[in-house]
Amino acid sequence: MKLWGGRFTKQTDKLVESFTASIGFDQRLAVDDIRGSLAHVKMLGACGIIPQQDADRIAEGLRSILADVKAERFPFLVENEDVHMNIEKHLIERIGPVGGKLHTGRSRNDQVATDMHLYLRRETKQIIALLVELQQILIEIADANIDVIIPGYTHMQRAQPVLFAHHMLAYFGMFSRDIERLQDVLKRIDILPLGAGAMAGTTFPIDRELVARELGFARIYENSMDAVSDRDFILEFLSAASITMMHISRFCEELILWSSQEFGFVELDDGYSTGSSIMPQKKNPDVAELLRGKTGRVYGDLFGLLTILKGLPLTYNKDLQEDKEGMFDAVDTLKGSVVLLGGMIRTMVIRREHLAQTVKEDFSNATDLADYLVRKGLPFRQAHEVIGKLVLYCIEQGKFLNGLTLDEYVAHSELFGTDVFEAIDIRTVVDARDVHGGTGTKRVMKAIQNAKERTAAM
Ligand code: ARG
Repeated sequence: MKLWGGRFTKQTDKLVESFTASIGFDQRLAVDDIRGSLAHVKMLGACGIIPQQDADRIAEGLRSILADVKAERFPFLVENEDVHMNIEKHLIERIGPVGGKLHTGRSRNDQVATDMHLYLRRETKQIIALLVELQQILIEIADANIDVIIPGYTHMQRAQPVLFAHHMLAYFGMFSRDIERLQDVLKRIDILPLGAGAMAGTTFPIDRELVARELGFARIYENSMDAVSDRDFILEFLSAASITMMHISRFCEELILWSSQEFGFVELDDGYSTGSSIMPQKKNPDVAELLRGKTGRVYGDLFGLLTILKGLPLTYNKDLQEDKEGMFDAVDTLKGSVVLLGGMIRTMVIRREHLAQTVKEDFSNATDLADYLVRKGLPFRQAHEVIGKLVLYCIEQGKFLNGLTLDEYVAHSELFGTDVFEAIDIRTVVDARDVHGGTGTKRVMKAIQNAKERTAAM
């Protein structure tokens, strides 16, 4: 017998039953569903909508079900369709017809929305905590490698040398924004739909503020129709999750490049790499690649929900049941990705000797040579021209700027003096960027300090 079986004279077709059921995935909401029900029934008792002793018996029954759910011994059944009816039906079986009073003044429509808000609030807070942990790993790496210089790129061509720590802190900045975005999404997650009923409100004198306080919601939906139809908070979460995954993916792309023989900047730990079934020499950055791939999956979750919502008239439509799997998938994928990225970078080896050599073998100090001439009085545009010619000369001679003699310099401009060698030294070049946001060592050390304070305050 279905909970809604009254007006039906035939059984549900078996295929329809499994097609419309969501219990296969929404049982993940069971704990939140019971939490919501406990708050609801407390309010029903407090407002005198049902006798207090009935409310107490229902609460007791719900708590015993909660224990079973937590112990993973609650029997979720497809014929009971979804998590809400599984629990309600079981409650009635357990404590008798009085259990049927729980659903007074409530609908599954405001109930499921409440479950989703509770679930996503909890998970979003956890994800923020995981991102802070990832940031702490970035700070540790930056701190431990403050002396390491790597090539910086634009257009994937060597541009200017930077501190490895500066590069790590760029990702720190991205994850800081991701955290801010999630904190902002939390404001819209933290709204209570319960009390909206099916869509128009309820005829019972409910106290929505009491329920909101009980469940710790900052606000209450002001419009019952909006309350049961709104899934913006999930969309916003999925958008923020997509952007975070995009950052993870960019980082992974760099790690894949950096761990190649061509770059050789880092070596990923054996524990975070896999081999080839045919090529014995191979050590592949599978984890980084898979994280890059998983990004597409989370984008899919976002686009799935956007597409589900675009044509829906108010208010509740069964289409909305499709909002769950993508949300669960994005939560699981993002959490796993943040943790794995942290483990992968924490264990990777930064190939210091190789990097120390590699940064000497390019023209990434050319900007500094132009700046040198500017300081000697030449307009920047002319200085650019002189150094451009000098680089061309180097290429023809098979040399780098640090391999030229003073005579060769002076042949290109009378302004060059012996101090030129100091000016193009890679360390000088890096530390000369002594501006707010620049890669100079003092600035980066300060940035690490700021980052430490920021994460400590989280
Ligand atoms: N399982 C449903 C969902 O996830 C619960 C709400 C059902 N409401 C209804 N009127 N059929 O959306």
